[in-house]
Amino acid sequence: MTMSEVFNDVLLADPHSGYAKMREAGRVHQATTPDGEPVWVVARYEDVRKALADNRLSLNKVNARTRGNYQSSMPPELDAHLLNMDAPDHTRLRRLVSKAFTPRRIEALRDRVHSLTKDLLDTVHGPQFDIMATLANPLPMNVICELLGIPSGSRGDFRDWTNLLISPTPGAVESSRSAMRSMHKFLVAVINDKRRCPTDDLLSAMIESRDEHEHLSESELVAMAFLILFAGYENSTHLIGNATVGLLLHPEHLAAVREGRTSVRAVVEETLRWNSPFPLGVRRFALEDLVIGGVEIPAGGRVWVSLISANHDERLFESPRDFDPSRTPAHLAFGRGIHYCLGAPLARLEAEVAITSLLDRWPHLQLSVSVEQLEWWQSFHKRGLLALPVTA
Ligand code: HEM
Repeated sequence: MTMSEVFNDVLLADPHSGYAKMREAGRVHQATTPDGEPVWVVARYEDVRKALADNRLSLNKVNARTRGNYQSSMPPELDAHLLNMDAPDHTRLRRLVSKAFTPRRIEALRDRVHSLTKDLLDTVHGPQFDIMATLANPLPMNVICELLGIPSGSRGDFRDWTNLLISPTPGAVESSRSAMRSMHKFLVAVINDKRRCPTDDLLSAMIESRDEHEHLSESELVAMAFLILFAGYENSTHLIGNATVGLLLHPEHLAAVREGRTSVRAVVEETLRWNSPFPLGVRRFALEDLVIGGVEIPAGGRVWVSLISANHDERLFESPRDFDPSRTPAHLAFGRGIHYCLGAPLARLEAEVAITSLLDRWPHLQLSVSVEQLEWWQSFHKRGLLALPVTA
């Protein structure tokens, strides 16, 4: 099986079938991406779990043996972020922001997230509306922009760039490159404004770390702002959409939630396992010749650690394609180890508040189109709905 076959024919439309074939065929697969890059795909849960904590696997692309498309598409100004770094740089930078994202700090935002959600839902007039446009798109953008201190006027532009960046299928590099450049310019301008007029937010705190304590470089500052904004928006949007559609497509589970037999938190966790918004593997580069799952990987080899494949591994999850919030999934949707998702508590909070608010406000909420009419983004980088039309 080559990766390009899976990419082109199956993975985009139905990633789970492609990965199921891989898991059955073996533990690790040497494959080729559509841009001709060799890659080793880690497909089974136990191997994925171990690979995520394996310090012989680097995130820093300077350790890549070959140049991939992704390398040319990122302007170097945005490279210096956590997902392109190993210890000790990663440790230093993560420490600077981790305080803002602890479960306790995030829990303190619950009332604010509630009130932002309420404001968005108050804009609904009439029985039919689109949950993506009304709530799932704007809520995470509003929350993360407030946390960082990004002015509200520029949020629409940022959303457009993110869509350009994340939507193209492999090969459509130019549009995402230009979106990257625009984002970079935008962030530099916001940071310069905040330098002149600091406010009480995460970005101003990071600027202070840079200017007064020299804890990070200017490019690390810009790249950190980029990563938090970018990662904090898109994934949460589609977690809200995928969890809501999961419930609306499964009336028995919807009823269990409404009757208090299943918690919304359990629905969110099962959605992360069943239909994660982040479908692609996380990438790593072998620091030395090594063997994973019995397969030799040369130093510099590009490794794709597939989280969604792990989360559907039938060795761990019975009937993995069923949406069943009553299981308690030990999913790997947020990764594991030192790069474990910084925003996991925030993503969980937003999804929980969004779904609870929707169900509380509309006791008869239902899909207003058939499952076949639902349109999904055609992207390897995200699994999410273009629209989620409902009747209140
Ligand atoms: C459903 C929502 C989300 C999913 C599925 C998700 C998934 C992930 C995964 C899998 C990783 C690890 C990547 C790797 O090991 O290579 C990660 C890292 C990260 N995520 Fe999330 N994420 C979500 C929401 C968020 C939010 C809301 C934020 C906002 C702050 C965020 C910020 C980050 C950051 C900064 C990292 C890098 C951490 C590090 O390298 O130390 N994520 N995320």
